[in-house]
Amino acid sequence: MIEKKQFFPFGIGTWRMGGASQPDYSRDNQWVEIINRAIQGGINVIDTAEMYGAGHSEELVGRAVETNNRKNLFIITKAWPSSYGNLRDALNRSLRRMKTDYVDLYLLHWPDENHDLPELIKDLLDLKDDGLARYVGVSNFGLELLSLSYSLSSGQIYANQIELNVSRQSQFNEIREFSEEKGILPIAYSPLNRNRMPENHKMRDNIKKSGLSVSAYSLLYTISLGAYPVPKFSTVEHLEDLLSAYKKYEKGNVRMF
Ligand SMILES: NC(=O)c1ccc[n+]([C@@H]2O[C@H](COP(=O)([O-])OP(=O)(O)OC[C@H]3O[C@@H](n4cnc5c(N)ncnc54)[C@H](OP(=O)(O)O)[C@@H]3O)[C@@H](O)[C@H]2O)c1
Repeated sequence: MIEKKQFFPFGIGTWRMGGASQPDYSRDNQWVEIINRAIQGGINVIDTAEMYGAGHSEELVGRAVETNNRKNLFIITKAWPSSYGNLRDALNRSLRRMKTDYVDLYLLHWPDENHDLPELIKDLLDLKDDGLARYVGVSNFGLELLSLSYSLSSGQIYANQIELNVSRQSQFNEIREFSEEKGILPIAYSPLNRNRMPENHKMRDNIKKSGLSVSAYSLLYTISLGAYPVPKFSTVEHLEDLLSAYKKYEKGNVRMF
């Protein structure tokens, strides 16, 4: 089981840092600086993927790792389905880009029916057994596939990363009970709802009454549900907004519902 209490209340996501599906080198210093600022602020979980910027996002994480104590960080990366035939090579490439010899959590990014699940889970567990990944898990898996993967792995699927925010809770609701029962950590992606106001009127009212930004409210919402969020922010102002909202929440000064 991955113990949430070793983590800062939220991590940092890196999608679109260093490009979307292709590398973009134009803002590298800004990205390395914001990852470093997050770490200096106490954030110890970094979420990335081989797909982000076609590997460049991992390279940026590598630059931040170089100047920080690797042991204090919990690094999550993910294999894209095109790597499912050869997970070991994919993970080795990710490790080289991140200048580390292990990841803390290695996830299958999306389910893919073109690959045999028992084989894939076996390959994933081999990486764990060889010490290349401390924990392994999945992402975007619904209940049926999650429970199948869990059984195939003899209980060694430790996390499932799913979308959870003020607009989208269905995937989380579906896996919630099973995850609690089996000790699988639900990791919330897009936890800020990408700073968009939700359609739901009651939720909009709650956000307005809280006096917080949509992003900050949505972040706290995912935490209040028991998930572990990995928000993406590019500026110190946005980071500060999230930190100060969390401080208010911790002191019991935010009414969520
Ligand atoms: N497993 C998967 O399939 C999957 C899918 C999507 C995402 N993810 C992971 O989850 C992470 C987060 O998701 P996401 O990037 O889609 O969306 P998100 O974290 O919900 O939202 C990011 C957006 O919110 C803005 N923002 C951040 N803090 C803010 C604040 N205090 N006030 C106003 N706006 C603020 C950011 O703007 P600035 O950039 O200008 O700060 C950015 O545009 C990703 O980076 C990635 O690591 C995983």
